Amino acid sequence: MSLTGMVCLITGGSGGLGAAIGDLFAREGAIIHLADLSDAPGRAVAERIGAGFHRLDVTDESAWMRAMDAIDAEHGRLDVLVNCAGASGIIGDGGLLDTSRWHTLFAINATGPFFGMKHAWPLLRRSSAPSVVNVTSISAAVAVTPAHPAYGASKAALSSLSRIMAVEMAQDGIRVNSVAPGILPVMSGLADDAAERATAHRESVVRTTVPLERVGDHLEVAAAVRFLASPDSSYVTGTELRVDGGFTAR
Ligand SMILES: NC(=O)c1ccc[n+]([C@@H]2O[C@H](COP(=O)([O-])OP(=O)(O)OC[C@H]3O[C@@H](n4cnc5c(N)ncnc54)[C@H](O)[C@@H]3O)[C@@H](O)[C@H]2O)c1
Repeated sequence: MSLTGMVCLITGGSGGLGAAIGDLFAREGAIIHLADLSDAPGRAVAERIGAGFHRLDVTDESAWMRAMDAIDAEHGRLDVLVNCAGASGIIGDGGLLDTSRWHTLFAINATGPFFGMKHAWPLLRRSSAPSVVNVTSISAAVAVTPAHPAYGASKAALSSLSRIMAVEMAQDGIRVNSVAPGILPVMSGLADDAAERATAHRESVVRTTVPLERVGDHLEVAAAVRFLASPDSSYVTGTELRVDGGFTAR
């Protein structure tokens, strides 16, 4: 129960990996705030695990300030920030070089966590064991196709930002690390037929690309996030933990 009593804010908590992190943190005794653009599913997860919920668009800086004000009023500090909200790398209608998708993916995957760390910093400074975990992707390190170019590039920006913030926030004892998942169940936000195609594609490529020959499970990634968020990793900062079944070891 290494997260007992720790105040944790998890973005992207309405489903997928973010909800799995919420589940695990709740079992570890954390005090959880979930944040997501997606309202009703987020409130349902929050009710199930006994968490607070903030409707927050990570690209909206003022929304971050409101969420931090609410957490400050309730707890006076923040112990853990998990930046898990992200937008899919699947190529959409606009195709490979669609400009608006480029801007959207950078705003959600890179600028969102930047705003998060910026506005969480004053509250994290008041914690006795503060930590940030950013969810990147193996796409930050290798070209995974088919995927929109902005997906890997924006995750690489977040990977770099994590290392820089680890060095800067260390002055206040705040650790910053990232977790890079490999191939997981497909992200939400896709039409049913696109999700089916993406799932079939993943099942077919994992046998040749992933040494462990299977798609990862959200809980396997959540366990890595838990380790980096908790005092168990008290001397770990500025690192990226790949949870990819060996994908990038080849
Ligand atoms: N699924 C994979 O194969 C995979 C692989 C590597 C990394 N990742 C990363 O893991 C994280 C979680 O992905 P997932 O698989 O659970 O996908 P998901 O689509 O199920 O979850 C992403 C969540 O982010 C939320 N979100 C999107 N835009 C937002 C915004 N502007 N503001 C607030 N919330 C927003 C969505 O509503 C959703 O709840 C993402 O950062 C993703 O890039 C996923």
